[in-house]
Amino acid sequence: MTAEDEALVGGMMNAGAVFRRGKLVERPASPNARTLHAHLLALKERGFDAAPVPVRLTADGREQLTFVPGDVALPPYPDWAMTKTALESVGSLLRRLHETSASVAVDPHAEWPRDLADPEGGTMLCHNDVCPDNVVFRDGRAAALIDFDLAAPGRPLWDVAMTARYWVPMLDPASAATLHPSGLDAPARLRILADSYGLSAGDRAELAGVIEQATEVCRAFVARRVADGDPVYLQALAERGGWERWDRMQTWLVDHRETFTAALLS
Ligand SMILES: Nc1ncnc2c1ncn2[C@@H]1O[C@H](COP(=O)(O)OP(=O)(O)O)[C@@H](O)[C@H]1O
Ligand SMILES: [Mg+2]
Repeated sequence: MTAEDEALVGGMMNAGAVFRRGKLVERPASPNARTLHAHLLALKERGFDAAPVPVRLTADGREQLTFVPGDVALPPYPDWAMTKTALESVGSLLRRLHETSASVAVDPHAEWPRDLADPEGGTMLCHNDVCPDNVVFRDGRAAALIDFDLAAPGRPLWDVAMTARYWVPMLDPASAATLHPSGLDAPARLRILADSYGLSAGDRAELAGVIEQATEVCRAFVARRVADGDPVYLQALAERGGWERWDRMQTWLVDHRETFTAALLS
């Protein structure tokens, strides 16, 4: 790294290791970076321009991608990132990603990360980690998705569920209060996300259950990081209320399952 490099903050997996150098971002390359770069280039060839363009892998295990200009909401998430317009723009951008992604064949021999992958698998590459820190905004609207490190094949509905967790958010009010503005109406916002994505009736009927499944997968992911002694995850878990918070979030999802489904299908 040189004096012109600017450290970029936002994520947890590569905290302190992501830098901007002019028009490029340099960050640790994931184990399947070569396959992922090929996928991102295929998205670009098919006209999807809302993701960083991979430039090269370095000899020391890092990757370079284009820097996407705009604003990224970092926790605690500001009001501008949680407006109705922002939520709608995230839903339509995810739909646009999926429409292109569905046309790109997933390499059957590639090893995709299992961390946040759909346990039921699928044929389309899902992003899996569409949290606010991984969306670049311009003029109050989602303009690009970044950080495809945890992308893996799955059902499109899985990606919608993961996205809902962060953007509705699908958290009990006390848990939501740690990072999100207060007063967000979860059933109404879930409906807005589903409408802006253009979710089918069949998927709407399943979404609440898939969000519960996605929450279990996220909890297991955090548990593995914590068991490995990852200091960033240990600190975040402690500051945000420990495993009790996860228990509370999961209970709340089950208790409100019917309310969410009714809001989605009404
Ligand atoms: N290509 C990019 N364009 C614009 N900003 C980026 C880009 N890549 C990373 N960033 C910024 O750096 C932060 C951390 O990068 P990210 O790759 O998401 O790290 P992590 O893997 O730790 O989540 C992001 O939240 C975002 O603010
Ligand atoms: Mg990130």
